[in-house]
Amino acid sequence: MGLETDIVDREVYDNSVARFRAARIVLPTFAELADPARIPAAVEAGLAGVDPDAPDPRNLFRVHWYNDATRRSRAAVPEHLVLPQSLTGVRAPIVVALGDRFPMIRAHKVLAAYGCLAPRLVTGQFDPTRHRALWPSTGNYCRGGVAISRIMGCHGVAILPAGMSAERFEWLERWVAGPEDIVRTPGSESNVKEIYDACAELARDPANVVFNQFCEFGNYLVHYLCTGAALARVVAALAAARPAVRPFAFVSATGSAGTLAAGDYLKRELGTRTVAVEALECPTLLYNGFGEHNIQGIGDKHVPFIHNVMATDAVAAISDRATDAISLFFQREVGRRYLAARRGVPAGVVAALGALGLSSVCNVLAAIQTARWFDLGPDDLVLTVATDGAAMYASEWPRIERRDFPGGFDEVACGEVFGEHLLGARTEHYLELGQRDRERIFNLGYFTWVEQQGVAVEEFTVRRSAQFWDGLRAHLPAWDERIREFNARVAAAS
Ligand SMILES: Cc1ncc(COP(=O)(O)O)c(C=O)c1O
Repeated sequence: MGLETDIVDREVYDNSVARFRAARIVLPTFAELADPARIPAAVEAGLAGVDPDAPDPRNLFRVHWYNDATRRSRAAVPEHLVLPQSLTGVRAPIVVALGDRFPMIRAHKVLAAYGCLAPRLVTGQFDPTRHRALWPSTGNYCRGGVAISRIMGCHGVAILPAGMSAERFEWLERWVAGPEDIVRTPGSESNVKEIYDACAELARDPANVVFNQFCEFGNYLVHYLCTGAALARVVAALAAARPAVRPFAFVSATGSAGTLAAGDYLKRELGTRTVAVEALECPTLLYNGFGEHNIQGIGDKHVPFIHNVMATDAVAAISDRATDAISLFFQREVGRRYLAARRGVPAGVVAALGALGLSSVCNVLAAIQTARWFDLGPDDLVLTVATDGAAMYASEWPRIERRDFPGGFDEVACGEVFGEHLLGARTEHYLELGQRDRERIFNLGYFTWVEQQGVAVEEFTVRRSAQFWDGLRAHLPAWDERIREFNARVAAAS
């Protein structure tokens, strides 16, 4: 599960040091990514001329929430939107941290990829001189993994369902070393079992190392610290401007459940509730259901091993019909005109809607449901993230328009979509979790992890206790110590 803090294989470690020296790679610590003001001034200065979309090792120091809109400079407060009542129909402001500012892949999953890789590198468990890094994913995590693999000069293999958006595949084709490094598994978004099966087959070759985001605790911990602290910083900035505001909940759609870990940080630091979100067409947590949907990146028909179920306070299911329609509405000129002219949504908010991809819209809708369910007022902040922006989905819009708006997407369609999916958003698929609900969801994970993936039952059940999750935090300073030591070896060797 990627929790080692001691060096496992010295030879592997030494090979990595040699590769990093040759490629001039320095690793950021988790603490630096959580608070980039800690990044040494010389490193920061060196970043100025680096293209944020280039496979340049220095971009590892941009794998955080503090990139500004140019993605070249650092913002004092993570870039975010505050969605007003004119857009959402609810009084509580919805605060959305923007993931499309991340380097190379324009999505926050590069943070998860780094969080899974770095601990294994600095404990001698991954050798970029002879291993291939396998990144099982539904599209963004594998891009993050491939980007970092390329920086390290090793093969990064993306394993993803064939049904993911064309933009993801176009990006991958530009970044992988060869076409064999893209493995297409059957199905679409919710076919994660098929991804596992492909990984199990590939893992028989000892040169392949699988970074399984669904059970790698580096994914949990990097989001716990970096995404959690970034949102806390946003809250502090909003509270400085308006002292009455207080954060009420953190809402996040779950794929690997990495992002959801920020909820544990925010709960501990700020007392928020944590809301897990899934697709209504694949309501695994809510109804133990299954199915196909188009909210790319989430809803994978299982309970990830790194999901702290017993600390989850509510589950919301959002239909992909709603995310498809609202995404189209947000990205079309007619929709933006409608929002500005008819609904009085501020121009700055309208102009920024390109930062919301499909799962980001899903998060916003679940945040609206949360505000409705708890009857939140204007001082209650609902926090969420936009994992990626709309640019990843442009190829989806014509298909959605043909299917749902055969007469064309016009002003009438705007009114229908706004009325049905925003003003009319209801909470019939919203569940505030009691102890029994949490037990039920927790136990569902048994079938994936113990029966299917062969995890020991004790390893599975220990995750029921809050102490287990609290104890994980000690890995962060231990890994940072290893990262500093690793960097020192690389520098000394050079
Ligand atoms: C677009 C998108 N949204 C949401 C998620 C879910 O994030 P997490 O895996 O951290 O739960 C992902 C994960 O890959 C994603 O790619």
